[in-house]
Amino acid sequence: MHTTGLMDTAQSMLAADKGLLAMDESTGTCNKRFAALGIPQNEDTRRAYRELILTTPDLSTCIGGLILYDETIRQKKEDGTPFLQIIKDAGIIPGIKVDTGAKDMPFFPGEKITEGLDGLRERLAEYNRMGARFCKWRAVISIGDNIPHRACIEANAQALARYAALCQEADLVPVVEPEVVMSGEHTLQKCADVTEEVLHIVFEQLYLQRVVLEGMILKPNMVLAGLSSSEQKSLEDVASATVQCLLHSVPAAVAGIAFLSGGQSAELASARLNTMNSVYKSKLPWPLAFSFARAIQQPALEIWQGKKSNVVAAQEALYHRALCNQTARRGHYDAKMEAQYAGKNT
Ligand code: G3H
Repeated sequence: MHTTGLMDTAQSMLAADKGLLAMDESTGTCNKRFAALGIPQNEDTRRAYRELILTTPDLSTCIGGLILYDETIRQKKEDGTPFLQIIKDAGIIPGIKVDTGAKDMPFFPGEKITEGLDGLRERLAEYNRMGARFCKWRAVISIGDNIPHRACIEANAQALARYAALCQEADLVPVVEPEVVMSGEHTLQKCADVTEEVLHIVFEQLYLQRVVLEGMILKPNMVLAGLSSSEQKSLEDVASATVQCLLHSVPAAVAGIAFLSGGQSAELASARLNTMNSVYKSKLPWPLAFSFARAIQQPALEIWQGKKSNVVAAQEALYHRALCNQTARRGHYDAKMEAQYAGKNT
Protein backbone atom coordinates (compact mmCIF):
# COMPACT_ATOMS: atom_id res chain seq x y z
CA MET A 1 0.00 0.00 0.00
CA HIS A 2 1.29 3.45 -0.94
CA THR A 3 -0.27 5.75 1.63
CA THR A 4 0.93 8.98 0.05
CA GLY A 5 -0.44 7.92 -3.33
CA LEU A 6 -3.84 7.15 -1.77
CA MET A 7 -3.89 10.52 -0.02
CA ASP A 8 -2.95 12.34 -3.24
CA THR A 9 -5.64 10.55 -5.24
CA ALA A 10 -8.33 11.23 -2.60
CA GLN A 11 -7.43 14.92 -2.58
CA SER A 12 -7.26 15.18 -6.37
CA MET A 13 -10.73 13.66 -6.74
CA LEU A 14 -12.27 16.64 -4.94
CA ALA A 15 -9.72 19.36 -5.85
CA ALA A 16 -10.72 22.69 -7.42
CA ASP A 17 -14.23 22.46 -5.93
CA LYS A 18 -15.03 19.52 -8.21
CA GLY A 19 -17.08 16.51 -7.24
CA LEU A 20 -17.78 12.97 -8.37
CA LEU A 21 -20.32 11.87 -10.93
CA ALA A 22 -21.81 8.47 -10.12
CA MET A 23 -22.68 6.69 -13.38
CA ASP A 24 -22.44 3.26 -11.78
CA GLU A 25 -26.05 2.14 -11.94
CA SER A 26 -26.22 -1.63 -12.16
CA THR A 27 -27.77 -3.03 -15.32
CA GLY A 28 -31.06 -3.54 -13.45
CA THR A 29 -31.21 0.01 -12.09
CA CYS A 30 -30.19 1.57 -15.42
CA ASN A 31 -32.86 -0.46 -17.22
CA LYS A 32 -35.46 0.60 -14.65
CA ARG A 33 -34.62 4.29 -15.25
CA PHE A 34 -34.77 3.75 -19.03
CA ALA A 35 -38.08 1.87 -18.76
CA ALA A 36 -39.67 4.77 -16.86
CA LEU A 37 -38.93 7.01 -19.88
CA GLY A 38 -39.74 4.45 -22.57
CA ILE A 39 -36.08 4.07 -23.61
CA PRO A 40 -35.19 0.56 -24.91
CA GLN A 41 -33.33 -1.44 -22.28
CA ASN A 42 -30.35 -3.14 -23.88
CA GLU A 43 -26.55 -3.02 -23.90
CA ASP A 44 -26.53 -0.72 -26.90
CA THR A 45 -28.70 1.99 -25.33
CA ARG A 46 -26.82 1.75 -22.04
CA ARG A 47 -23.55 2.17 -23.95
CA ALA A 48 -24.87 5.11 -25.96
CA TYR A 49 -26.12 6.82 -22.79
CA ARG A 50 -22.80 6.36 -21.02
CA GLU A 51 -21.01 7.71 -24.12
CA LEU A 52 -23.25 10.79 -23.95
CA ILE A 53 -22.14 11.39 -20.35
CA LEU A 54 -18.43 10.80 -20.95
CA THR A 55 -18.22 13.02 -24.01
CA THR A 56 -20.02 15.98 -22.43
CA PRO A 57 -17.91 19.04 -23.33
CA ASP A 58 -16.02 20.58 -20.39
CA LEU A 59 -17.23 17.95 -17.92
CA SER A 60 -13.74 17.77 -16.43
CA THR A 61 -13.92 21.40 -15.29
CA CYS A 62 -16.52 20.39 -12.65
CA ILE A 63 -16.08 16.63 -12.23
CA GLY A 64 -12.92 15.18 -10.67
CA GLY A 65 -13.92 11.52 -10.62
CA LEU A 66 -16.34 9.26 -12.46
CA ILE A 67 -17.77 6.14 -10.85
CA LEU A 68 -18.26 3.39 -13.42
CA TYR A 69 -19.91 -0.03 -13.34
CA ASP A 70 -18.33 -3.33 -14.43
CA GLU A 71 -20.18 -3.23 -17.76
CA THR A 72 -19.19 0.40 -18.40
CA ILE A 73 -15.49 0.17 -17.55
CA ARG A 74 -15.14 -2.37 -20.39
CA GLN A 75 -17.14 -0.40 -22.98
CA LYS A 76 -16.03 1.70 -25.93
CA LYS A 77 -17.28 4.72 -27.81
CA GLU A 78 -19.07 4.10 -31.09
CA ASP A 79 -15.75 4.87 -32.87
CA GLY A 80 -13.94 2.18 -30.85
CA THR A 81 -12.16 4.41 -28.29
CA PRO A 82 -12.26 2.74 -24.85
CA PHE A 83 -14.28 4.70 -22.29
CA LEU A 84 -11.30 4.58 -19.93
CA GLN A 85 -9.17 6.33 -22.55
CA ILE A 86 -11.70 9.16 -22.89
CA ILE A 87 -11.81 9.60 -19.12
CA LYS A 88 -8.03 9.67 -18.79
CA ASP A 89 -7.63 12.05 -21.73
CA ALA A 90 -10.13 14.40 -20.08
CA GLY A 91 -8.05 14.39 -16.88
CA ILE A 92 -10.85 12.79 -14.83
CA ILE A 93 -10.03 10.05 -12.32
CA PRO A 94 -11.82 6.76 -13.07
CA GLY A 95 -13.45 4.76 -10.28
CA ILE A 96 -15.59 1.65 -10.09
CA LYS A 97 -18.48 0.37 -7.97
CA VAL A 98 -17.40 -2.98 -6.54
CA ASP A 99 -20.24 -4.12 -4.31
CA THR A 100 -22.59 -6.65 -5.87
CA GLY A 101 -25.75 -5.18 -4.42
CA ALA A 102 -27.86 -4.98 -1.28
CA LYS A 103 -29.74 -8.23 -0.51
CA ASP A 104 -32.44 -9.03 2.06
CA MET A 105 -30.85 -9.64 5.45
CA PRO A 106 -31.91 -12.99 6.90
CA PHE A 107 -34.14 -12.73 10.02
CA PHE A 108 -34.39 -8.92 9.65
CA PRO A 109 -37.43 -8.15 7.47
CA GLY A 110 -37.13 -4.83 5.65
CA GLU A 111 -33.35 -4.59 6.17
CA LYS A 112 -30.51 -5.13 3.69
CA ILE A 113 -26.93 -6.36 3.74
CA THR A 114 -24.58 -5.45 0.91
CA GLU A 115 -22.66 -8.31 -0.68
CA GLY A 116 -19.48 -8.49 -2.75
CA LEU A 117 -16.53 -9.34 -0.48
CA ASP A 118 -15.90 -12.82 -1.94
CA GLY A 119 -13.19 -12.57 -4.60
CA LEU A 120 -12.92 -8.82 -4.09
CA ARG A 121 -9.11 -8.82 -3.75
CA GLU A 122 -8.79 -10.38 -7.23
CA ARG A 123 -11.37 -8.03 -8.77
CA LEU A 124 -9.61 -5.00 -7.29
CA ALA A 125 -6.29 -6.13 -8.79
CA GLU A 126 -7.95 -6.36 -12.21
CA TYR A 127 -9.62 -2.95 -11.93
CA ASN A 128 -6.32 -1.41 -10.83
CA ARG A 129 -4.57 -2.91 -13.86
CA MET A 130 -7.30 -1.50 -16.09
CA GLY A 131 -6.69 2.00 -14.70
CA ALA A 132 -9.28 2.55 -11.94
CA ARG A 133 -7.94 4.63 -9.06
CA PHE A 134 -10.85 4.50 -6.63
CA CYS A 135 -13.82 2.31 -5.72
CA LYS A 136 -17.29 2.60 -4.25
CA TRP A 137 -19.37 0.34 -1.98
CA ARG A 138 -22.89 1.26 -0.88
CA ALA A 139 -24.60 0.01 2.26
CA VAL A 140 -28.34 0.60 2.60
CA ILE A 141 -29.94 1.44 5.94
CA SER A 142 -33.70 1.96 6.05
CA ILE A 143 -35.71 3.78 8.71
CA GLY A 144 -39.09 2.30 9.64
CA ASP A 145 -41.02 0.70 12.49
CA ASN A 146 -38.30 -0.57 14.83
CA ILE A 147 -35.63 -0.47 12.14
CA PRO A 148 -32.73 -0.20 11.64
CA HIS A 149 -31.53 -2.84 14.09
CA ARG A 150 -28.01 -2.67 15.46
CA ALA A 151 -27.32 -6.05 13.81
CA CYS A 152 -27.97 -4.57 10.35
CA ILE A 153 -25.86 -1.48 10.97
CA GLU A 154 -22.95 -3.51 12.36
CA ALA A 155 -23.00 -6.12 9.58
CA ASN A 156 -22.98 -3.38 6.92
CA ALA A 157 -20.32 -1.32 8.71
CA GLN A 158 -18.04 -4.33 8.99
CA ALA A 159 -18.46 -5.10 5.28
CA LEU A 160 -17.74 -1.46 4.40
CA ALA A 161 -14.57 -1.50 6.50
CA ARG A 162 -13.35 -4.81 5.05
CA TYR A 163 -13.97 -3.47 1.56
CA ALA A 164 -12.11 -0.24 2.39
CA ALA A 165 -9.10 -2.13 3.76
CA LEU A 166 -8.93 -4.35 0.66
CA CYS A 167 -9.10 -1.25 -1.57
CA GLN A 168 -6.24 0.46 0.22
CA GLU A 169 -4.15 -2.72 0.13
CA ALA A 170 -4.66 -2.58 -3.67
CA ASP A 171 -3.77 1.15 -3.83
CA LEU A 172 -7.34 2.15 -4.61
CA VAL A 173 -9.11 4.92 -2.70
CA PRO A 174 -12.30 3.61 -1.06
CA VAL A 175 -15.43 5.72 -1.27
CA VAL A 176 -17.36 4.51 1.76
CA GLU A 177 -21.11 4.94 1.29
CA PRO A 178 -23.40 4.13 4.22
CA GLU A 179 -26.72 5.44 2.88
CA VAL A 180 -29.59 6.06 5.26
CA VAL A 181 -32.32 6.06 2.63
CA MET A 182 -34.94 8.77 2.32
CA SER A 183 -38.01 6.56 1.89
CA GLY A 184 -40.36 6.72 4.86
CA GLU A 185 -42.34 9.07 7.01
CA HIS A 186 -39.62 9.78 9.57
CA THR A 187 -38.69 13.23 10.84
CA LEU A 188 -35.42 15.03 10.17
CA GLN A 189 -34.45 14.41 13.81
CA LYS A 190 -34.92 10.66 13.38
CA CYS A 191 -32.70 10.73 10.28
CA ALA A 192 -30.09 12.70 12.23
CA ASP A 193 -30.11 10.16 15.07
CA VAL A 194 -29.85 7.14 12.78
CA THR A 195 -27.20 8.72 10.53
CA GLU A 196 -25.06 9.65 13.52
CA GLU A 197 -25.30 6.15 14.99
CA VAL A 198 -24.45 4.59 11.62
CA LEU A 199 -21.43 6.84 11.11
CA HIS A 200 -20.08 6.14 14.62
CA ILE A 201 -20.28 2.40 13.99
CA VAL A 202 -18.78 2.70 10.50
CA PHE A 203 -15.79 4.70 11.78
CA GLU A 204 -15.26 2.26 14.64
CA GLN A 205 -15.07 -0.57 12.11
CA LEU A 206 -12.78 1.44 9.81
CA TYR A 207 -10.48 1.96 12.80
CA LEU A 208 -10.53 -1.73 13.71
CA GLN A 209 -9.67 -2.68 10.11
CA ARG A 210 -6.78 -0.15 10.08
CA VAL A 211 -8.14 1.93 7.24
CA VAL A 212 -6.13 5.10 6.59
CA LEU A 213 -8.69 7.88 6.93
CA GLU A 214 -6.62 10.36 4.91
CA GLY A 215 -6.85 7.95 1.97
CA MET A 216 -10.65 7.51 1.88
CA ILE A 217 -13.74 9.54 1.04
CA LEU A 218 -17.02 9.30 2.92
CA LYS A 219 -20.19 9.34 0.83
CA PRO A 220 -23.08 9.92 3.24
CA ASN A 221 -26.70 10.96 2.89
CA MET A 222 -27.72 14.47 3.82
CA VAL A 223 -29.84 14.61 6.98
CA LEU A 224 -33.41 14.95 5.70
CA ALA A 225 -36.96 14.14 6.73
CA GLY A 226 -38.39 11.06 5.01
CA LEU A 227 -39.82 11.49 1.51
CA SER A 228 -43.38 10.82 2.76
CA SER A 229 -43.05 13.01 5.84
CA SER A 230 -45.16 16.16 5.94
CA GLU A 231 -42.28 17.86 7.76
CA GLN A 232 -40.00 19.31 5.06
CA LYS A 233 -37.45 21.62 6.63
CA SER A 234 -35.71 24.74 5.33
CA LEU A 235 -32.32 24.76 3.62
CA GLU A 236 -30.82 26.19 6.82
CA ASP A 237 -32.31 23.44 9.02
CA VAL A 238 -31.08 20.70 6.69
CA ALA A 239 -27.61 22.25 6.48
CA SER A 240 -27.35 22.69 10.23
CA ALA A 241 -28.58 19.15 11.04
CA THR A 242 -26.29 17.58 8.43
CA VAL A 243 -23.19 19.49 9.47
CA GLN A 244 -23.77 18.85 13.20
CA CYS A 245 -24.24 15.15 12.54
CA LEU A 246 -20.99 14.98 10.54
CA LEU A 247 -19.04 17.01 13.10
CA HIS A 248 -20.17 14.59 15.82
CA SER A 249 -19.18 11.46 13.98
CA VAL A 250 -16.59 11.93 11.19
CA PRO A 251 -12.91 12.19 12.18
CA ALA A 252 -11.10 15.29 10.90
CA ALA A 253 -8.50 13.13 9.14
CA VAL A 254 -10.97 11.92 6.49
CA ALA A 255 -9.89 13.28 3.08
CA GLY A 256 -13.32 14.48 2.05
CA ILE A 257 -17.07 14.10 2.20
CA ALA A 258 -19.06 13.73 -1.02
CA PHE A 259 -22.82 13.43 -0.58
CA LEU A 260 -25.14 11.11 -2.47
CA SER A 261 -28.36 12.73 -3.66
CA GLY A 262 -30.71 9.90 -2.68
CA GLY A 263 -33.80 10.95 -4.64
CA GLN A 264 -33.88 14.69 -3.85
CA SER A 265 -34.63 16.95 -6.79
CA ALA A 266 -31.55 18.17 -8.61
CA GLU A 267 -32.18 21.78 -7.56
CA LEU A 268 -32.70 20.96 -3.88
CA ALA A 269 -29.53 18.85 -3.78
CA SER A 270 -27.54 21.81 -5.14
CA ALA A 271 -29.26 24.33 -2.85
CA ARG A 272 -28.67 22.22 0.28
CA LEU A 273 -25.01 21.62 -0.57
CA ASN A 274 -24.65 25.33 -1.22
CA THR A 275 -26.13 26.31 2.15
CA MET A 276 -23.80 23.93 3.99
CA ASN A 277 -20.79 25.45 2.25
CA SER A 278 -21.86 29.08 2.42
CA VAL A 279 -22.61 28.92 6.16
CA TYR A 280 -20.14 26.37 7.54
CA LYS A 281 -17.21 25.86 5.13
CA SER A 282 -14.66 27.84 7.12
CA LYS A 283 -15.41 25.80 10.27
CA LEU A 284 -15.11 22.33 8.75
CA PRO A 285 -12.04 20.04 8.69
CA TRP A 286 -13.03 18.32 5.41
CA PRO A 287 -14.29 19.53 2.02
CA LEU A 288 -18.04 19.06 1.55
CA ALA A 289 -18.56 17.92 -2.03
CA PHE A 290 -20.97 15.87 -4.12
CA SER A 291 -21.06 12.39 -5.61
CA PHE A 292 -24.48 12.51 -7.21
CA ALA A 293 -26.06 10.16 -9.71
CA ARG A 294 -29.72 11.17 -10.14
CA ALA A 295 -29.22 14.82 -9.13
CA ILE A 296 -26.76 15.25 -12.01
CA GLN A 297 -28.05 12.75 -14.57
CA GLN A 298 -31.86 12.78 -14.32
CA PRO A 299 -32.59 16.02 -16.24
CA ALA A 300 -30.21 14.92 -19.02
CA LEU A 301 -31.75 11.46 -19.21
CA GLU A 302 -35.23 12.96 -19.52
CA ILE A 303 -34.07 15.17 -22.41
CA TRP A 304 -32.16 12.39 -24.18
CA GLN A 305 -35.06 9.91 -24.41
CA GLY A 306 -32.72 7.50 -26.24
CA LYS A 307 -32.53 9.74 -29.36
CA LYS A 308 -29.30 10.83 -31.09
CA SER A 309 -30.92 14.15 -32.02
CA ASN A 310 -31.23 15.02 -28.30
CA VAL A 311 -27.60 14.28 -27.32
CA VAL A 312 -26.33 17.88 -27.43
CA ALA A 313 -29.24 19.25 -25.35
CA ALA A 314 -28.87 16.40 -22.85
CA GLN A 315 -25.13 17.09 -22.52
CA GLU A 316 -25.85 20.76 -21.89
CA ALA A 317 -28.26 19.78 -19.10
CA LEU A 318 -25.69 17.42 -17.59
CA TYR A 319 -22.96 20.06 -17.67
CA HIS A 320 -25.35 22.61 -16.16
CA ARG A 321 -26.02 20.35 -13.15
CA ALA A 322 -22.32 19.58 -12.71
CA LEU A 323 -21.56 23.31 -12.79
CA CYS A 324 -24.38 24.11 -10.32
CA ASN A 325 -22.89 21.63 -7.87
CA GLN A 326 -19.35 22.93 -8.28
CA THR A 327 -20.75 26.42 -7.65
CA ALA A 328 -22.56 25.05 -4.58
CA ARG A 329 -19.24 23.81 -3.24
CA ARG A 330 -18.09 27.41 -3.40
CA GLY A 331 -21.27 28.60 -1.67
CA HIS A 332 -22.16 30.74 -4.70
CA TYR A 333 -25.08 28.79 -6.18
CA ASP A 334 -28.48 30.45 -6.41
CA ALA A 335 -31.78 30.12 -8.24
CA LYS A 336 -30.54 32.61 -10.87
CA MET A 337 -28.30 29.88 -12.29
CA GLU A 338 -31.38 27.78 -12.96
CA ALA A 339 -33.31 30.73 -14.42
CA GLN A 340 -30.46 31.68 -16.76
CA TYR A 341 -30.13 28.10 -17.98
CA ALA A 342 -33.91 27.77 -18.45
CA GLY A 343 -33.94 31.12 -20.30
CA LYS A 344 -31.30 29.88 -22.76
CA ASN A 345 -33.13 26.62 -23.34
CA THR A 346 -36.74 27.71 -23.90
O1 G3H B 1 -25.04 4.58 -4.78
C1 G3H B 1 -25.68 5.55 -5.14
C2 G3H B 1 -25.12 6.53 -6.06
O2 G3H B 1 -23.74 6.46 -6.04
C3 G3H B 1 -25.63 7.90 -5.72
O3 G3H B 1 -26.86 7.98 -6.34
O4 G3H B 1 -27.11 10.43 -6.06
O5 G3H B 1 -28.86 9.02 -7.15
O6 G3H B 1 -28.45 8.83 -4.70
P1 G3H B 1 -27.87 9.15 -6.04
